[in-house]
Parts: sequence; C-alpha cells; structure tokens
Amino acid sequence: MARILVTGGCGYIGSHTIVDLLKHGVDVVSIDNFSNADKRVLFGIEAITGKKVKNYTINLTDVQAVTKTFDDIGHIDGIIHFAAFKSVPESVAKPLLYYHNNIQSTANLLAEVQLRNIGTFIFSSSCSVYGQIKTLPVNENTALGKAECPYAYTKQIGEQMICDVASFSQSTWVSLRYFNPVGAHQSGIIGEVPNDKPNNLVPRITGKSSGRYDDLTIFGGDYDTRDGTCIRDYIHVEDIAHAHTLALNLSREQNTGVHVLNLGSGEGVSVLEAIQAFEKASGRKLDYMIGPRREGDVVAVYADKNQASKLLQWTPNPSVEHMMSTAWQWEVNMASGKSFLGKDYSIENFHL
Ligand code: UD1
Repeated sequence: MARILVTGGCGYIGSHTIVDLLKHGVDVVSIDNFSNADKRVLFGIEAITGKKVKNYTINLTDVQAVTKTFDDIGHIDGIIHFAAFKSVPESVAKPLLYYHNNIQSTANLLAEVQLRNIGTFIFSSSCSVYGQIKTLPVNENTALGKAECPYAYTKQIGEQMICDVASFSQSTWVSLRYFNPVGAHQSGIIGEVPNDKPNNLVPRITGKSSGRYDDLTIFGGDYDTRDGTCIRDYIHVEDIAHAHTLALNLSREQNTGVHVLNLGSGEGVSVLEAIQAFEKASGRKLDYMIGPRREGDVVAVYADKNQASKLLQWTPNPSVEHMMSTAWQWEVNMASGKSFLGKDYSIENFHL
C-alpha cells in the first residue's frame, strides 16, 4: 500500500483529497498548522472513511521542524503539497507574506524529496499561472503570462522550482493547475471552512444566503464578457480530489519527469451565471450588488481539460448546479451544527 504525505491535509482541497486517497486504499499522513483549517476536519475525515489520520502541526517554512517531522514519519512514497496561502487580494496587500510562506515551504519539501529520494511530488498549482489569457480554452502548452498577483507568481515560481530540481532527479513530478474548486463533499460532513472573511465567490454566496454575511458584491459588471462579469471554470472539489489519486497512479506508470495538467471542467461560467446556478440549486433568491473590479482578477479563464482526461482517465462532472447544491448543503449543515460528524461538535472539546 502506498504511503503519502499530504501537506495542508486539513484544508479545503487537502481534506477532500485525503478522503479520496483513503477510499482508494492509500495510507495517509498529514501536515497542517491550521493557519486556514479547522481541527475538526480530522473527525469529519474519520466519520466518512472510518480511518484516523495522523496530523503533524508544524510550519513548513521552519526547516528544522520539517526535517524532524520527516525523520518521525519515516518512509513515504510521495508528497501531495497543498499547504499554501491562497487569497488573491490578500497576496496583493501582503506580498512578502505570500513569497515567504509559499516559496519557502515548497523549497523545504523539495529538499526532503531530494535528500530522501521520495518517488512522487504532486504540486497544487493554479490556473492563475497563465495570467491574462488571449486564447480560450487554455491548454498546458500556453506560454505563461505575467502573474496578475503575488499569489499567482508564487505558483509560477513553485512550478519552476520543480522543473529545476526534476532535471537531475529520478522522481515523478506532477503540477496540477486547479481552476476554481468549489462545492463540498456529498456527505455534507466536510467542506470549505470559511475564515472570518472568505474572498472566494461560493462561500460568499452561500454565506450571504444563510445570513452569515450581510452583503454580496460582484466585483465588476463592465468586463468585456457576455454579461459584463468575469468568467471562471468552476470544478467540484471531489473531482479535484480524485484527480490526485489518479495522478498517483500516473506516477506509478510513468517513472520520471514533470507532468503539468489543467484541472478544470472545461466550461466558462460568469459570476452572474454562478449566482443563477446557486438560486436554482437551492431554490433561494440572492440579493447582490455590482461593485468595482477587484485588483488582481483576470477577465476570463477556462480549461482545455483534454490532457488530464486522457492521462488520468479523469471525467469531472461539469454541473455548476450540482457544485452549488453540495456547497449549500454544507452551509446548512455548518449553520445547524451538523457538519464534521453529523452532530453538534464544539471545537473547545477537542485537543489534538
Ligand atoms: C483565484 C485563482 C484560482 C485559485 C483561487 C484561490 C485566478 C484566475 N484563479 O480564483 O486559481 O484557486 O484564486 O483563492 O486567478 N467574486 C465576486 N464577488 C466575491 C468573490 C468573488 O464577484 O465576493 C468574483 C471574482 O471577481 C471572480 C470570481 O468571482 O471573478 C471567482 O473569484 P474567487 O472565488 O475569488 O476565485 P478566483 O479569484 O477566480
């Protein structure tokens, strides 16, 4: 049985990926310092899979802590590296925070891969590496444009670091460029745990509808798109998660080298269309206003997903309504205390 280290294992995509890995017979250990995650996620993972996951609470930028943790973990077959800061606007406001956290943590992990000859490294990259796109859909051979924000630049640098290290290694390297992961696990037990003020669209939509947030603003209604709002490629988080399990299979078949894959549904959806999909899925009308554009936003981006479909045998569900209905179920469960284990758990009761 393969043994995989998942960094950021208690975060949004990390936790769904751990569930998928465990369901497919992969043994998992996690590193997460809970900077943007909730400890109860570990109980949610156990509730869904019946398996306990060990988590090391360390900061990946701390090289000594990383080395000590790898010594303690012992043999692993691969690393899936999610842990990173991921807010576009925050990265514009605090660039050095993003450069330090995202780049130093990746560098420390790559050093361990080299030192310990770890077989596979899967990197959470982002469609933001493409910058402003001229031709859509975007495929993996498209030259990377200027990063629109420091977050995007840290992902470009992460991919470049991998290529530089890979050129003299025997490991398999996979950079997965996520488009816009949304929704929640179909069980309603885990999902995106919003921090105080999430910047992403879907938690803002569901939080506005449940009354957790007072307002919902569309960032820009005057873009050169079919309805004036930005276009994105929304992809269900369980599909993204499963792509990691498939990428591990790929790394077993293809021994060395770097593989770069888009993970999107291939459909361009405007902000207004996403709101309509939510209204249809939930049966609830949303109040929103149209405000100014957000700094760092690209106008439109959606994926050519052929490469991922072919290499991974990956068939994501493109229904935005399905994504919205799981996101809404999760919001309702959080509001009623049914998330994580189907019971009302209070964080104070847990000491991990
Ligand atoms: C960006 C990255 C994506 C990354 C994500 C991490 C791009 C193209 N994509 O997603 O790869 O995974 O950050 O956070 O850079 N919006 C509103 N009102 C809101 C919130 C968002 O109108 O309250 C709009 C945004 O302007 C955007 C769309 O909704 O057009 C999606 O925004 P968001 O969910 O924040 O994701 P991206 O910024 O596209």
